[in-house]
Amino acid sequence: MQQLKRRGFCLGSAPIRQTDSHDISRWHLGMPVLLKSNSINLLTDHAAHIKQTEELVSALLKQTDCDSVLANTPYAERLEPKFQSLGSAFNEGDPQEIETVMFDAMDGDHIIAEDLWLKASWLSFHEDDASLRFRFSFGIDSLEDVAADPGRQKLAAELTDAVFPESRVITDNQALEETLKSILHSDGISFVERIIYFNSPNGGAYLHHDLERGHDGVVFAQLTGQTFWLALSKQALIEEIILFSKTHSWPDSLTLEMRLEMSELIGDRAYLSEQLGSFANAGLIHLINETEAFVQFLIARGHGTQLEPGDVLLLPQATEETCCWHSVFCLDDEMGQALSFAIRAKNYALTKPADATP
Ligand SMILES: [Fe+2]
Repeated sequence: MQQLKRRGFCLGSAPIRQTDSHDISRWHLGMPVLLKSNSINLLTDHAAHIKQTEELVSALLKQTDCDSVLANTPYAERLEPKFQSLGSAFNEGDPQEIETVMFDAMDGDHIIAEDLWLKASWLSFHEDDASLRFRFSFGIDSLEDVAADPGRQKLAAELTDAVFPESRVITDNQALEETLKSILHSDGISFVERIIYFNSPNGGAYLHHDLERGHDGVVFAQLTGQTFWLALSKQALIEEIILFSKTHSWPDSLTLEMRLEMSELIGDRAYLSEQLGSFANAGLIHLINETEAFVQFLIARGHGTQLEPGDVLLLPQATEETCCWHSVFCLDDEMGQALSFAIRAKNYALTKPADATP
């Protein structure tokens, strides 16, 4: 049986049996949809690209600059002449950032878009967690309304294809495209705000959402290694926290102050929802991410999903209330590669407020 261990916290065993979660009607309830073995054939086509990316990550872990790797074969040939590197930047104000490589998009001698970037970052500050990610976007991170500039969004997606051609496991995946068109009642799907993930032993992600204006949801494709997920709608998470409080005593690791606050939170759904969304309530963060009792409770309640290479997981992110919250654990002895792309339906209406971003 595989153990769930993340950032120094031992959270019990992962279940052997898969939770049955491939019914696509779950999307509209804010619940995850598993497309088991959806991309297994495409992995073979991209085996060489996946291996190349593993070598890039090994170089980064040995403190080689990403920019200097991208200046050589095979990256230079795939990037140029359309994407011209402007070199790296290192933001000392962001301790999670490893390196940001900036690009202009060119058409001959003309710049058609500026300030596209690839940002490599650590996923946590824990010294035994080597999890990292490569994120592609443009403009001022976290401040730019990326949804309002689909042209640059498309170029940032093309930049991902040039650096990580295995992106096509998602973008050239007809079965996935048909499923998403059917779910979203759209005749076209694009994949934007792309991230390439490496979840490492003792790493992963705490419960969070990816709600952002311009996106309908997120698609996650496991390329190598295995991950374990807890995923459920925000409403369901709120109800599970309340049910947990009625059927369990608070774990010993919660301080008296945390217990008093939790007792207040579970009596007021609106306050509990607000505190979840703040990502700043220490007791709540500890309970839902760092206690074996709550993690095992969510698994027993059917919210666990295991991903193997070739599996794809869909995470709806429609509204604050219904978006799918999710948490990731690495199940292997080595880091595994995955793709996480935002889904934008062609008929997406930009009527949602720009401040919907968490
Ligand atoms: Fe996420």
